[in-house]
Amino acid sequence: MNVRAAVFRGPHRPLSVETLLLDPPGAGEVLVRMVASGVCHSDLHVVDGEWSRPSDVVLGHEGAGVVEALGRGVEGLAVGDLVVLAWTAPCIACPACLRAEPWLCADPRGSGHRLSPPQVRLRRRDGSPVGAYSGIGTFAERQLVAAEAAIPVDPGTPPEIAALIGCAVTTGVGAVLNTAAVRPGQSVVVIGAGGVGLSSIMAAVMAGAQPVVAVDAVPAKLLLARDAGATHTADSGGARALLAELTDAGADHVFEAIGLRETVELAVDLTRAGGTTTLVGMTPQGERASIDVYGFVEQGKRLLGSNYGSAVPARDFPRICALYLDGRLPLDLLVTERIRLDGLEDAFAAMRRRDGARRVVVF
Ligand SMILES: NC(=O)c1ccc[n+]([C@@H]2O[C@H](COP(=O)([O-])OP(=O)(O)OC[C@H]3O[C@@H](n4cnc5c(N)ncnc54)[C@H](O)[C@@H]3O)[C@@H](O)[C@H]2O)c1
Ligand SMILES: [Zn+2]
Ligand SMILES: [Zn+2]
Repeated sequence: MNVRAAVFRGPHRPLSVETLLLDPPGAGEVLVRMVASGVCHSDLHVVDGEWSRPSDVVLGHEGAGVVEALGRGVEGLAVGDLVVLAWTAPCIACPACLRAEPWLCADPRGSGHRLSPPQVRLRRRDGSPVGAYSGIGTFAERQLVAAEAAIPVDPGTPPEIAALIGCAVTTGVGAVLNTAAVRPGQSVVVIGAGGVGLSSIMAAVMAGAQPVVAVDAVPAKLLLARDAGATHTADSGGARALLAELTDAGADHVFEAIGLRETVELAVDLTRAGGTTTLVGMTPQGERASIDVYGFVEQGKRLLGSNYGSAVPARDFPRICALYLDGRLPLDLLVTERIRLDGLEDAFAAMRRRDGARRVVVF
């Protein structure tokens, strides 16, 4: 079948929107008609050459769609289901999966940006293979994905919201609720109010944190953070002074949701003695940050990394949908603009100039 898709051909090159040939679903696979796909900063890291990834692959990893066909042996899914796509489809057999830590799966289906490597399911007319990013490559009208990557959710979830639950929302909400397990009354700082950070702010508010402080360089982002429920806002320069005013000696929890050395170091500094810093933002590969080891140890701080919000997609995607549908997570404010596949370059440019929360491709 023919599908239009946006293909990554190497760093610093525009994605090319092309018509590709997609195979029918094999055993354990599902054909999904994409309804929406968000543009995440992790896509931009790839396009800007900050993360090394193979080409050519259909990019995009924050998507939702409707099941159109099932391959042999697929259970628990039906044609017509609305599914949120997980960018790790756990193997369910490795030690990490057996510990219920699917985000650490050693052999996720879709690794190497192929389903069942080295097989690809997409080709150009000349027969040359094209991979699917993380096995889901959501910048495409249709995709074949592993059944484990397709998580059915409430069919009343709007397409854009379902798409964002596939990455930014689960990452930001999960960091607060799963990784750091914020408790009512604790003080929270979130550095970076993009798609991920705004989701963390909403989850901190929902968890009963007080105060909830948003830090961002862009005033418009801080207004969005207020809409998300932040009680206080500051730019990175003003964060230390604001926190000194609000707390005795730092916050119980600080989340870094940008991925910059200086804000990672700021996050550790803003954490109180005995408090927890959770790193969510991802730097260019190879980047290192430094901490004052003596002070860190003496103050008994804790430093956590949060991959995919420490989420179990089959458990957390439907839960997050339910919280949204109950009005407890104001996720609508994340959607800045709806775009088409040929609008991706503009969306990347907007993200580089820190304009807006999420742009979402609607199909
Ligand atoms: N841990 C995970 O599993 C995971 C999952 C998804 C995304 N991420 C990473 O999270 C990070 C954030 O992703 P996003 O999609 O929300 O990005 P985004 O571009 O939407 O948001 C980044 C925010 O940081 C702000 N910012 C940038 N530089 C700043 C500075 N120097 N000081 C203060 N504010 C600054 C921007 O204004 C923007 O609001 C990225 O690094 C992304 O790769 C991690
Ligand atoms: Zn992402
Ligand atoms: Zn596994």
